[in-house]
Amino acid sequence: MRLLVTGGLGFIGSHFIRLALRERPDCRVVNLDVMTYAGNPANCADLEADSRYSFVKGDICDREAVESAITGGVDAIVNFAAETHVDRSILDPEHFIRTDVLGTHVLLEAVRRFQIPRFLQVSTDEVYGDVATGASTESDVLRPRSPYSASKAGGDLQVLAYWATYQAPVLVTRGSNTYGPYQYPEKLIPLFITNLIDDQPVPLYGDGKQERDWIHVEDHARGILEVLERGEIGNVYNLGGGNNRTNLEITQLLVRELGRSADTHVTHVLDREGHDRRYALDTAKARKLGWSPRIGFQDGLRSTIEWYRANESWWRPLRSGEFKDYFNRQYAHRLVTAL
Ligand code: DAU
Repeated sequence: MRLLVTGGLGFIGSHFIRLALRERPDCRVVNLDVMTYAGNPANCADLEADSRYSFVKGDICDREAVESAITGGVDAIVNFAAETHVDRSILDPEHFIRTDVLGTHVLLEAVRRFQIPRFLQVSTDEVYGDVATGASTESDVLRPRSPYSASKAGGDLQVLAYWATYQAPVLVTRGSNTYGPYQYPEKLIPLFITNLIDDQPVPLYGDGKQERDWIHVEDHARGILEVLERGEIGNVYNLGGGNNRTNLEITQLLVRELGRSADTHVTHVLDREGHDRRYALDTAKARKLGWSPRIGFQDGLRSTIEWYRANESWWRPLRSGEFKDYFNRQYAHRLVTAL
């Protein structure tokens, strides 16, 4: 199996490549990544000695870069390349539309022109929007409510339109909130772990009663691989961990595991604009393929904390420079007007 993986220097993409090379000895991977702030060569440093792996720097919006990366032929494209952080999409939506919508279109055109046998779009449960009760199924109407989720929904809709119109051999996975090693420290779990290691308070949005379903990155990556191999073309598959927790519960767990106190280390700050209250996924369809998550939430969270403790040399450089600018834009006023 020869794969073009886009965005493979990112969090989930790098885990996917490692898993595919480990579990499928005949697999070869070309990793096409433009190296934004979240595309980190250190995420794939251990793969560089593997002759089955190669890296190409390039943008999925650049047709020539995409076509040159598939020269020699590939059996499938797996698209992880995306702008993914909701808070950044609120500050600066344009990059999201470009990469998540236009980039997906450029890849789909390559699939059509070069008759690539499979295209898998890695998407998100956020496209379903806020789900007050129950769990989203793959046929539910999309009601995205942030610039990020709207851009991902735009990508998904194009992918499904290419199936309906051109019979392009596409698949879509919609994953829930993902955590684990190598996650850039701007999202809830890695931001809070690294703040707490550094004895800093964590900024909890609003009342903290928003609910997310958490999946370990290894389980998410395995789900993508299994859908790629066994999914039915033209279909969407939800990949959720089945671990619904409020942000307050997650925060209390992290504070306790890291030996801090909620009184001194949790700051309730101004809420995210348009903040979705709850996501939940029905994963029966992916489970019918034989996939199910294997890593329990408590164990996964503990081992993730241990990883961040043991790998300060990975995350500490990321918390300077660009991150500081972003952190100030996102949090300075919130921390001043803490609730
Ligand atoms: O559901 C899948 C999605 O999960 C992915 O598609 C996105 O790429 C990923 O970023 C994530 O989106 P969320 O917005 O749910 O993740 P985030 O870690 O940013 O936030 C999780 C929850 O924690 C959310 O309710 C907002 C809250 N939060 C987050 C941050 C960064 C806080 O209370 N304080 C914070 O500082």
